[in-house]
Amino acid sequence: MSQAATDSPVLKAIFDRRSVRHFIEAPVEKELLMEALKAASWAPSGLNNQPWRFGVIRDPELKARLGGLTRYTNVLKSASVLVAFFLDRDSSYDYVKDCQAIGASIENFLLAVHAQDLGAVWIGEILKNKDEVQRILELPERLDLMAIVAVGHPAHRSQSSHRRPVEELILFDR
Ligand SMILES: Cc1cc2nc3c(=O)[nH]c(=O)nc-3n(C[C@H](O)[C@H](O)[C@H](O)COP(=O)(O)O)c2cc1C
Repeated sequence: MSQAATDSPVLKAIFDRRSVRHFIEAPVEKELLMEALKAASWAPSGLNNQPWRFGVIRDPELKARLGGLTRYTNVLKSASVLVAFFLDRDSSYDYVKDCQAIGASIENFLLAVHAQDLGAVWIGEILKNKDEVQRILELPERLDLMAIVAVGHPAHRSQSSHRRPVEELILFDR
């Protein structure tokens, strides 16, 4: 249920998006994925250096091998497609700012996925095995894994979530 106080589609997407961890067996159309990746690439970045790179994984065997590196095995295996987000060290100018930019890119991606009636979840837990991911995907060292996002057609949309009231989060308003 939307919490948006306006009709803004952007605000509605921000408030309505939930992490989706259960998917039906249906492929994600290439055009929809490309649109979401384009949204990811339109995130802001320091000096507009665009440090993000994307790896698209559809192969079931590869998904299963990556699934073995996280406790979210079934999420990775049941998603139609996995998108690995990397920081390209060759494009990096400031590690913290580049990580922030990639976070913005991932959020753009999640919102675009949601806006197209797909579902996704940001899997950070797999970073504990990032070297192994690197090895399985046969990637050069300059690509620094930031997250894997599992994408698919949601099995249901009954997920709920909560946030602390924003008033509690405002440290000062001078
Ligand atoms: C940096 C980061 C790492 C995350 N890692 C995981 C993860 O490994 N597994 C998972 O199921 N969800 C993961 N999430 C999703 C969060 O659990 C989720 O966003 C949070 O509980 C709020 O729920 P919502 O996205 O439905 O609003 C991650 C989110 C972020 C931003």
